Amino acid sequence: MAKDIEALLKEKRIFEPPAELVENSNIKKWMNEHDIKDYDELLERAKDIEWFWEEVSKEVIEWYTPYKKILDWTPPYAKWFVGAKCNIAHNALDRHVKTWRKNKVAYIWEGEPGEVRKLTYNDLYIGVNKFANALKSIGIGKGDRVMIYLPMIPELPMAMLACAKVGAIHSVVFSGFSAIALRDRINDAEAKAIITCDSFYRRGKTVPLKKQTDEALEGAPTVEVAITFKRTGEDVPWSEGRDHWWHDVIEDQPPTCETEVMDSEDLLFILYTSGTTGKPKGIQHVHGGYALGVAHTLKWVFDIKEEDVYWCAADIGWVTGHSYIVYGPLILGATSVMYEGSPDYPDIGRLWSMVERYGVNVFYTSPTAVRMFMRFGEKYPAKYDLSSIRLLGSVGEPINPEAWMWYWKYIGREHCPIMDTWWQTETGAHVISPLPITTLKPGSVTRPLPGYTADIYGTDGKPVAAGAGGRLVLTTPWPAMMRGLYKDPKRYVETYWSEYPDTYLAGDIARKDENGYFWIQGRFDDVLNVSGHRIGSAEVESALVSHPKVAEAAVIGKPHEIKGESITAFVVLSAGIEPDDELRAEIREHVAKEMGKIARPGEVWFVGDVPKTRSGKIMRRVIKAKVTGEPVGDISTLANPEAVEGLGKAK
Ligand code: WT7
Repeated sequence: MAKDIEALLKEKRIFEPPAELVENSNIKKWMNEHDIKDYDELLERAKDIEWFWEEVSKEVIEWYTPYKKILDWTPPYAKWFVGAKCNIAHNALDRHVKTWRKNKVAYIWEGEPGEVRKLTYNDLYIGVNKFANALKSIGIGKGDRVMIYLPMIPELPMAMLACAKVGAIHSVVFSGFSAIALRDRINDAEAKAIITCDSFYRRGKTVPLKKQTDEALEGAPTVEVAITFKRTGEDVPWSEGRDHWWHDVIEDQPPTCETEVMDSEDLLFILYTSGTTGKPKGIQHVHGGYALGVAHTLKWVFDIKEEDVYWCAADIGWVTGHSYIVYGPLILGATSVMYEGSPDYPDIGRLWSMVERYGVNVFYTSPTAVRMFMRFGEKYPAKYDLSSIRLLGSVGEPINPEAWMWYWKYIGREHCPIMDTWWQTETGAHVISPLPITTLKPGSVTRPLPGYTADIYGTDGKPVAAGAGGRLVLTTPWPAMMRGLYKDPKRYVETYWSEYPDTYLAGDIARKDENGYFWIQGRFDDVLNVSGHRIGSAEVESALVSHPKVAEAAVIGKPHEIKGESITAFVVLSAGIEPDDELRAEIREHVAKEMGKIARPGEVWFVGDVPKTRSGKIMRRVIKAKVTGEPVGDISTLANPEAVEGLGKAK
């Protein structure tokens, strides 16, 4: 027991979804059609994963040529819909323009300065075709790697789909990454071409993307062609011969382009993500199974209906955007909102103003964003009419019950269920998540979706008892799972498949309660050992931010001669709160009260900000290095590198 994670937070509140929402949900309809009376029966039936995934595929995916076999599972490699011919661009675009959806809006886009573009499925189709023809004309074809370094503008999904259309493999690099980070990824992917733009708007300023691209290309010999979209019209450096304008390359291209016939297992994209080492991992996804995974989960979890306006407020540079801004919604033929800029520009009410103006029905964001909104107070959302929202979503990190309740109350107006979706770049699509029919517990991702088998294992490779912590594993394959790491099969096996036989190791610590609900506690490397007790940093942070004066918190274990590690907390106070020793003591006691004395932080430091990745994850390793005086290492992936220096000025 001492070796098990202490599940110290006890969350007792439960929330039932509104009856009308349940009645009208896509999943309920499907269960009725299949004579399945409740969710438990569905989970039971879906244990036959081949039956389940084939059955749901009929609703969302069209194949050019049918598969010969549903699954070929030779651990650690799975092939799904073996032998089928398809192309994700066919499912996302080609088939829609042959229906009434031709003139349906695919994206409502808003630039940070305020301009609006509405693109129908046909607009997108023509844009993609022209650009795909342009790619072909510069010699890009099946299997070539194309880097895409673009901000949140409609040309980003267009470029991705054009790559898919010609059979090229895209690798999107988040526009907030530095030139050095971009260069490393280009070189690993050995990309032949790169697509970027002159610059874009962020917090009222411009970010010079073409300039950064040129810096990256200085050390990236494989790139033969760079295509630049003109977003702002600012001057850019130019290299004759290599560089072309987007508008020039599409000018004389025909508006139709034949879609390359791909195998269901052909690569669609590589997306780099960080691991435990400094070198990013190139996660690979394919045309067939991935398309099914994203479209199916979006349809069931976010319950997307034909007339909905849906908004995933992430960046396409991350997997959330790939799956739930680009491929998922387009395959479903949905209307999505897309926003270029910063959520606090011109003020922290920007997103709520957009929800009101476009009548958003389903809204998906991260706990970090929720806590930021919380910090500024409910007066901002209160200024706008949010009554169009029916369902909310959360992703990326554990959402602390405090933030969950705020989101529920002030954005969901106490009647919109929150879909806290657990998944990873590696899983491609949602794995453990509520559905609109699920009873919710704030802070829990509830239960695995049908078609997935998740469990929590101890170090002995056996499932742990209810309430005990352990390692989150997936014991059966699923269609949207990664198809290995680009050029690194060894690392693929070592990272994910070596701990337990034929079992996928997710890298997260979690516990399951007496109702089979999963509570994610954070990554392995974020777990502290205090006096022989393991405590999740995320849990201590959750306890800290439940204090009314705390906006954000990061917790690390500082080596301690008696306890092994002592809990050291870095705390960002809510706007207008002054730090002092009295408050420091109060916060320590607050944690002790919430979690037990064992979790009381030895030290509490007040800081202006904590270092985070672009997807909002607190970089505890960076903080730890700074605190222990070790080299901080590469901080190019941080959203706020200046926060690292700020740690030194902690009070
Ligand atoms: C890691 C994956 C999946 C899209 C964004 C992040 C953490 C993700 C949740 C959640 C608790 C979560 C896990 C996971 N995570 N969603 N709902 N509750 N933790 O993708 O960068 O690949 O990170 O994010 O630790 O392993 P990613």
